[in-house]
Amino acid sequence: RGLLTGGALAAGGALGAAVAVTAAGSDDPATRPAATTPVAEIGLAVEPFHGTRQAGVATEPQAHAAFVALVLRPETDRKALGRMLRLLSDDAARLTQGRPALADTEPELGLLPARLTVTFGFGPGFYRAANLDERRPPSVAALPAFGIDRLSPRWSGGDLLLQICADDPLTVTHAQRVLVKDSRPFATVAWVQQGFRRAAGAEPGRTQRNLFGQLDGTANPKPGAPLETAVWVPDGPTWLRDSTTLVVRRISMNLETWDLLGRTDRELSVGRRLDTGAPLTGTDEHDEPDFTALGSGGLTVIPDFSHLTRSHVAEDRLRILRRPYNYDGVPSADGTADSGLIFASYQADITRQFLPIQRRLAERDLLNEWTTPIGSAVFAIPPGCSEGGWIGQQLLG
Ligand code: HEM
Repeated sequence: RGLLTGGALAAGGALGAAVAVTAAGSDDPATRPAATTPVAEIGLAVEPFHGTRQAGVATEPQAHAAFVALVLRPETDRKALGRMLRLLSDDAARLTQGRPALADTEPELGLLPARLTVTFGFGPGFYRAANLDERRPPSVAALPAFGIDRLSPRWSGGDLLLQICADDPLTVTHAQRVLVKDSRPFATVAWVQQGFRRAAGAEPGRTQRNLFGQLDGTANPKPGAPLETAVWVPDGPTWLRDSTTLVVRRISMNLETWDLLGRTDRELSVGRRLDTGAPLTGTDEHDEPDFTALGSGGLTVIPDFSHLTRSHVAEDRLRILRRPYNYDGVPSADGTADSGLIFASYQADITRQFLPIQRRLAERDLLNEWTTPIGSAVFAIPPGCSEGGWIGQQLLG
């Protein structure tokens, strides 16, 4: 429900206000607050830009995203980085609050923020360019090569990341255009990955589905203490406290061979049911999986090499926050899909949290049969800034 056309919206606030959808909240439908946002106000909804932490990490994922990776020009040094980030932060602050950018050539496109967030990430090359390598979080370094990787430079690396997310695709595109123009004197575009989830309000309070049809995001750390511990750096110098790290992996999903699998095999490969997302040993999505339960054949009900078994993390401080987006490129002439996941994972420390999981998955995971990592990049997500400040100030200022 709630499929309002532009005409219906324009016809008056009464109808818009009458149809309400669930707004930001927890991943767990049971604990999700009942707060609702009228559909007609989705375009006007605002996420804060200023704060001790950057938005776009713990923020309830918006429907659309662009991950823009830039490579710094050789002449961009510490001073130039400061000029660039002042400019970018200023325009990001305006656009996220529904105000046009400073020299916006299409100011009308800046008026619907639709929960726009711009999250800045610094790759290893950023610290080198600033001559501040000693301030780089040690885990922000190129990942080791994994046997499953088929990485392309087209989707890998980058010195500066702009993660742009909003509930409206036009808002994302406009912000991307403004910020790329701002960056031009300082950097070139290395790659852009555009992705999507369900439209805002289409399935309020539900875990999103990926293009294999699976519920994806069930076992994320819960808001509150678990997410705090997993994601944010609690102490240290000002450029580290309230920071986090991001791993972006472009993972192609082979829909052609996945199509050949029966439903039972699809469910065994992950260890969860496709309809409810429940573990094969349970009935509800959020039931705890029982990895020891045996089936009639004497084998574990959840296969030992299922994605669930291999990726499972029991301790909050070792969990990762997955905030992935689907991508769907143009099929080849014979109709072969170009689909997959822009896998984005936030964690306080890549070495301690992400790498052990990725190592286990690379070594053995039934899902590897249908998935291939084709891009990889790592970034530090520095702390946020207060009004009048800029992202990166604690590091470069
Ligand atoms: C869980 C799909 C790649 C880490 C899951 C689940 C699905 C899924 C359906 C179960 C529901 C959930 O908890 O979200 C996929 C697909 C992938 C992919 C389709 C690639 C295209 C990865 C990668 C990692 C990862 C690269 C990390 C290196 C995890 C973790 C869990 C999980 C930590 C939760 C495990 C738990 O504690 O229960 N994934 N995944 N996944 N995945 Fe993946």
